[in-house]
Amino acid sequence: MTPEQDDLSRLRIEYSRREQRLAGSDLYSFSNPAYLFAVQQRQRAMLKALRAWGCAELEGRRILEVGCGSGRVLAEMAYFGALPQHLAGVDLLHRRLVEAHRNIPGGSFTAADGQNLPCPPHSFDLVLQFTAFSSVLDEQVKRNMAAEMLRVLKPGGVIIWYDFWLNPANRQTRGIRPGEIRALFPGCAVDLHKTTLAPPIARRIVPVSWGLAVFLEALQVLNTHYLALIRKVEG
Ligand SMILES: C[S@@+](CC[C@H](N)C(=O)[O-])C[C@H]1O[C@@H](n2cnc3c(N)ncnc32)[C@H](O)[C@@H]1O
Repeated sequence: MTPEQDDLSRLRIEYSRREQRLAGSDLYSFSNPAYLFAVQQRQRAMLKALRAWGCAELEGRRILEVGCGSGRVLAEMAYFGALPQHLAGVDLLHRRLVEAHRNIPGGSFTAADGQNLPCPPHSFDLVLQFTAFSSVLDEQVKRNMAAEMLRVLKPGGVIIWYDFWLNPANRQTRGIRPGEIRALFPGCAVDLHKTTLAPPIARRIVPVSWGLAVFLEALQVLNTHYLALIRKVEG
């Protein structure tokens, strides 16, 4: 088995353990105020960044998410105006893709490794990765995934990256800092926003004061994630 295959097997085992651990928990439920806060703040940051880059209008855009899981992020894209038939997702885990089909009936979902995307070159306006790269420990797998994301991006298209740079609690994941994001996408302009108030802090503050949580997140010092817009530099 190559180190890359080894890492993918580890990932499959880790995700099934994680699903068992989280069964019945409201950690990732919209009824949990801290989770709702994190998602809404991320959406605001993403829409602001897309507007700044002149691509806020999602209707008519073809969108792919690498490591789409159950399709939550793609469902947000539909809510913001993308057409379901323009949404595609790939993931290693078949069970999650069944849920994605249920969440977005018109979308197209494929069980595939992000290192070999089953898509022709230049086929998407937006290519997303939301917390998939931090679950990959093998450096070569990450490089291969990033190269594939660039391959399937249309000229003038944009990659949206959302992932944490710090997560000391979980040794099955690895935070990714700005230097590494830039190195994964050579020849690209990378616009970074530090976002997401550290979840353990948000879980304490948000139920007491949503406004205080907004204030703390705006300070950025306690934020654990980067949202990045990544675009090939033409010529
Ligand atoms: C933390 S989950 C995030 C799911 C989704 N992006 C979201 O934010 O709801 C990370 C997902 O990435 C997927 N993933 C990790 N490495 C992958 C790879 N090489 N190819 C395809 N999917 C991968 C995992 O199977 C998992 O479903």
